Amino acid sequence: MEAGDEKEESPQPAALGRFQLSEEYGFLLPSPLTELPPSYSPWMDIAHELPKLIASHQLRACIHQMPQLNTQHLRGREELHLAHLVLSFLTMGYVWQEGEEGTMRVLPRNLAVPFWEVSQALGLPPILTHADFVLANWRRKDPSRPLEIENLEPIISLPGGESLHGFILVTLLVEKAAVPGIKATIQAIHALQHLDDELLHRALQGLAAAIGDMDKALQQMHGNSSLPAPAVLTCPCLCSWRDNAAMPHGLLYEGVSEQPMAFSGGSAAQSSVLHAFDELLGIQHSQESTAFLHRMRDYMPPPHRAFIRDISRAPSLRQHILSSADLRLREAFNHCITALADFRSHHIAIVTKYIAVAKAKAGQEEACSTGKPPAALEAKGTGGSHIFIFLKSVRDSTREGLISA
Ligand code: HEM
Repeated sequence: MEAGDEKEESPQPAALGRFQLSEEYGFLLPSPLTELPPSYSPWMDIAHELPKLIASHQLRACIHQMPQLNTQHLRGREELHLAHLVLSFLTMGYVWQEGEEGTMRVLPRNLAVPFWEVSQALGLPPILTHADFVLANWRRKDPSRPLEIENLEPIISLPGGESLHGFILVTLLVEKAAVPGIKATIQAIHALQHLDDELLHRALQGLAAAIGDMDKALQQMHGNSSLPAPAVLTCPCLCSWRDNAAMPHGLLYEGVSEQPMAFSGGSAAQSSVLHAFDELLGIQHSQESTAFLHRMRDYMPPPHRAFIRDISRAPSLRQHILSSADLRLREAFNHCITALADFRSHHIAIVTKYIAVAKAKAGQEEACSTGKPPAALEAKGTGGSHIFIFLKSVRDSTREGLISA
């Protein structure tokens, strides 16, 4: 995406590296670390026991006894990402251990200060993000076997058991399926910059195929019988301390700020993949949806955010197609749009099913052993408006991107 490599047809390795994207794993952190240096064992020991400590209501007491560790000894991006993952899970568990009616409004300094420092070092907010929950939270059970759901497990977990694992791992497989689409995006921009319609056509075909593969990966969310009934939406890991009646002023990070701070919780809306494709395809979402989606970009690692920004500044694909007489290009472009709208329709179907099941479950039992499910369940994530209005509006504006013959 940078001028200067005119002769090269595929500028990918350079472009990928610049945005901390991996050739094999895309936005996923390649082979994330699973352990920190021994001096950080007070964090790791608690993190590995998190579901049990929350279920037995002992997590807060353990965190109060934890020493305040110096983050200066963390080395490199991998250690910082694992530290952010661990501290964000500890924070979620600490705040929500007793469910919505017993939230903590103050994060103690022995957790707040290192969490803040690690967040600053990575350019991430001090809350559990998609980059923690999914991108940095995976390992192969058998390193010699492929990236399949049966061979994957999260590094750190919260109450929610297999259904939470399924949620994390299917999202991860969608990210993995997107990798050829990310490369096709870079290729398409290269082709636009060099007015190479043959390359552009191949890139758009590659992008449509990748979105189709993401869709297949997404279907595992309800197609895979190994995933038990979902408790995902009732789990506190996805809650925020922004626009949340249970924490109207946000969370006070002791030793960091005198005032509480408000942040949104983890959501796949923070995945960079669809943001990148939307920018390339020139999809125009409504003002309200755009405001929410753009706010979600603040929860992405800065190099991924920069990737999306650079796509938005590249020559307009849409204008190029509109002004081109090449009908093959128009058709390939429309395939991308249709595939993306279909992906979003299938996502809506999954959310519908999960909300219905989660609501039914919430009526019968306590969620995640932590108390009642979040009241924000129905309005989650869209700054007040109902999630389905948001999701359908985003899907419909995708369809409006079709270019008619
Ligand atoms: C049980 C499964 C899932 C549920 C219940 C769910 C729920 C939601 C909800 C409630 C939103 C609205 C925004 C928010 O509240 O943060 C959302 C948005 C979004 N979700 Fe999911 N989701 C699920 C699985 C996935 C998976 C596997 C992906 C794949 C990456 C995904 C990608 C997205 C994206 C990209 C958005 C932003 C809207 C868009 O661009 O269309 N979701 N999801």
